[in-house]
Amino acid sequence: MTAIDTTSPAIRFRAISRHFGEVHAVDGVDLDILDGEFFTMLGPSGSGKTTCLRLIAGFEVPDSGTIELFGRDVSSLPPYDRDVNTVFQDYALFPHMRVAENVAYGLMIRKVSPPERQRRTEEMLELVRLHGLGGRKPSELSGGQRQRVAVARALANDPPLVLADEPTGNLDTAAGRELMLLLRQLNQTKGTTFVVVTHDHAVARQTNRVVVMQDGKIVREDLIGSPLEEDLKLWRHSGLGRRLLTGDEEAIERVGLSGKELALLRGVLARADRKAGPPSQGS
Ligand SMILES: Nc1ncnc2c1ncn2[C@@H]1O[C@H](COP(=O)(O)OP(=O)(O)OP(=O)(O)O)[C@@H](O)[C@H]1O
Ligand SMILES: [Mg+2]
Repeated sequence: MTAIDTTSPAIRFRAISRHFGEVHAVDGVDLDILDGEFFTMLGPSGSGKTTCLRLIAGFEVPDSGTIELFGRDVSSLPPYDRDVNTVFQDYALFPHMRVAENVAYGLMIRKVSPPERQRRTEEMLELVRLHGLGGRKPSELSGGQRQRVAVARALANDPPLVLADEPTGNLDTAAGRELMLLLRQLNQTKGTTFVVVTHDHAVARQTNRVVVMQDGKIVREDLIGSPLEEDLKLWRHSGLGRRLLTGDEEAIERVGLSGKELALLRGVLARADRKAGPPSQGS
């Protein structure tokens, strides 16, 4: 058997639904996000993106289905027992605390020593280009600066999984691009898994995989911006895709991908396959 990376995904949704009365905010969603992915949920207002993030973080409980994080069923765990930090759509900074205290909050909860806390906080403020502003209150910052405080707070304790709800929503195009580059850099250097929610295609194109949501459902999936995107198109239309799916060792060797890349592609191909129905002859 050729080794395929079968380690548990960072996030696994199985038949997740969350309805608010008549509104099917999330409606039977199946989704695997691998450890280390830089992932986007794209979709119009009201399509269920924030609700998905809230379900992952534990602020919302599904009506049905199961959620696993790193192989552990967390369906009944409260937010503070999940290894997830969130950058909220409205920042949710503590207004009475100074910027530095906001950033250090997670470290304080985890009882990190004061000197280490201060070191990490300064490092994070530097990272998001807010050095020198630690003493201000959030009300003394611009919208874009508040957004960056929220990012620094979410990243300060080095979580394996970060959810970011419209992290560029209050930034101009250039600042938004820069923030996304910063997240990508953290994704690449620390292996942090990022799930970014946006309605902006340009932001989505800066990540490696995108699902498009509409009316609580995933309606499309793409590996945009990924070096694997072109490969995927080709494999979809050739016999190779099918052979990869069935675990054909020669095919797997031929594409020469890492176990993780292969697991990702197999997931995408398998889901596209289920949607397309039975295979056509001769492929
Ligand atoms: N607590 C709630 N009570 C009732 N309806 C809700 C609640 N939370 C969300 N909804 C509804 O569920 C749907 C999905 O909302 P959600 O916030 O997930 O959308 P979204 O994709 O994040 O939109 P936006 O891009 O505007 O932030 C919407 O119709 C919303 O009104
Ligand atoms: Mg939202």
